[in-house]
Amino acid sequence: MKKLLIVANLKCYKTEIEAKEWLENLKTELETVDLTGEKEVIVCPPFTLLSLFKTFFVENNLNIKLGGQNVSQFGEGAFTGEVNAKQLKEFADFVLIGHSERRTNFNETNEILLQKTKLSIDNSLTPIFCIQDSTTNIPEGVTILAYEPVFAIGSGNPDTPENANDVAKELLERKTGANILYGGSVSSQNVNSFTSKDNVSGVLVGGASLEAKEFVQIVKNA
Ligand code: PGA
Repeated sequence: MKKLLIVANLKCYKTEIEAKEWLENLKTELETVDLTGEKEVIVCPPFTLLSLFKTFFVENNLNIKLGGQNVSQFGEGAFTGEVNAKQLKEFADFVLIGHSERRTNFNETNEILLQKTKLSIDNSLTPIFCIQDSTTNIPEGVTILAYEPVFAIGSGNPDTPENANDVAKELLERKTGANILYGGSVSSQNVNSFTSKDNVSGVLVGGASLEAKEFVQIVKNA
């Protein structure tokens, strides 16, 4: 059986108090879920909450990995406001790169994404590289891709599982052995229609991850 990756992207949501409540709810809901098996859960909170999440997962013995939502295209230096890959690696094992919200709102070009990917890999962070269609540029060394069509993000209008599977197949032809995730309006209701497809090895969940109960239901149903 294939291993499934279930990734939560909390985007620019949650204060510390809200995050503590989310974590407590997550813990309660996870009591009946076996995370040692074929499902790997990765949570990508905002930078400000990484330390809190890391401590909580360790103290509560929760087998959940952490990811950053972004990383600097530069290493350490005089880059005010940036968080570099070495700093992120102190908390996380994964990092989202190339999300369409960053490409659009922060003008991240292929060249910038290439630098971010390279620095991440050099610092032992695994990029979860987001692409919008099967023609998107993919940097060397990427092993996890998330196919996220722009129309499906935050719209409640997911791609069809058949199309997601076809795109994943095309991507696998370009990147043999990669894990291809689907993202865009994934919910507990539709997750299995994606994860049951041959070429899809997980999901990237935005809005539906903001409620811990719904996110755990997605993990259960995947
Ligand atoms: P969504 O977001 O699940 O809210 O559509 C997915 C994403 O942007 O990663």
